Amino acid sequence: MAVLGLVTVCVVAARRPSSGIRPSRDPSVRALTSTFVRGVVGTAEPLRAGATSVRAVRSSDADAIEATIDDVVIGVMGWPVDMAARYRTAVRRRRAPTLMVITERDREVAIGVVALEPLPVTDSEPFHRTVRIGLWMGPQGRGKGHMGRAVRLLVELMIGNDISLLAETAPTNHAARHVLERAGMVETARRVVRLPDGSEVDGIVYERFAPRFARRPTDHQP
Ligand SMILES: CC(C)(COP(=O)(O)OP(=O)(O)OC[C@H]1O[C@@H](n2cnc3c(N)ncnc32)[C@H](O)[C@@H]1OP(=O)(O)O)[C@@H](O)C(=O)NCCC(=O)NCCS
Repeated sequence: MAVLGLVTVCVVAARRPSSGIRPSRDPSVRALTSTFVRGVVGTAEPLRAGATSVRAVRSSDADAIEATIDDVVIGVMGWPVDMAARYRTAVRRRRAPTLMVITERDREVAIGVVALEPLPVTDSEPFHRTVRIGLWMGPQGRGKGHMGRAVRLLVELMIGNDISLLAETAPTNHAARHVLERAGMVETARRVVRLPDGSEVDGIVYERFAPRFARRPTDHQP
């Protein structure tokens, strides 16, 4: 399975909310963000805040990542029931290079994931790189502040490298919304989204633009 398919998280629409701007048809242009993000992630040292560490995924994380995907995560994401096994295989085979793994500080075992999905750049904005973030915490790690700290660290890493952020979640997912808002992301749109299992749910779009790309929110209505 393709990496992009795997890291499709809360939503399946693979485009930025700035509707009307189409991804480039040139594969080498489309791949610019992906190449850049892999470079940032691949060279980043493990990040630490409080009781939380974040680092790039390793193939040895496969089993631990599978264990983070319980029925709650499957349900919220609208994933197929075999998604945990798919992630295990993809991680083991190094096919998900832009997953970031959350651990307890300086521990090895993955307890949660922030999936960075580089979105294709457009011909009109070839230097505006955007990453969609998806997040889930395994059952043992929830409610301990790990995701909040991890997302803040990663958002700052992305913004510091001139990468803008996009995330989508449900209006009822208060914990996820709180995590995103604490990381400086702001609501820019609401829309109905279709999940991988075919269900349609209300969604909130959150964005944070790298300063050099800051635009008026009205530019990003779907
Ligand atoms: C959503 C999720 C990622 C949060 O991870 P977590 O590690 O438990 O989150 P944290 O412990 O960092 O806490 C989240 C924050 O939300 C707050 N929060 C939790 N429930 C809340 C609620 N009902 N209303 C408002 N805030 C709430 C917490 O107080 C905390 O805020 P703080 O850091 O200011 O204290 C995790 O619950 C999860 O994986 N859920 C299932 C999958 C999912 O929903 N993924 C997100 C899809 S977009």
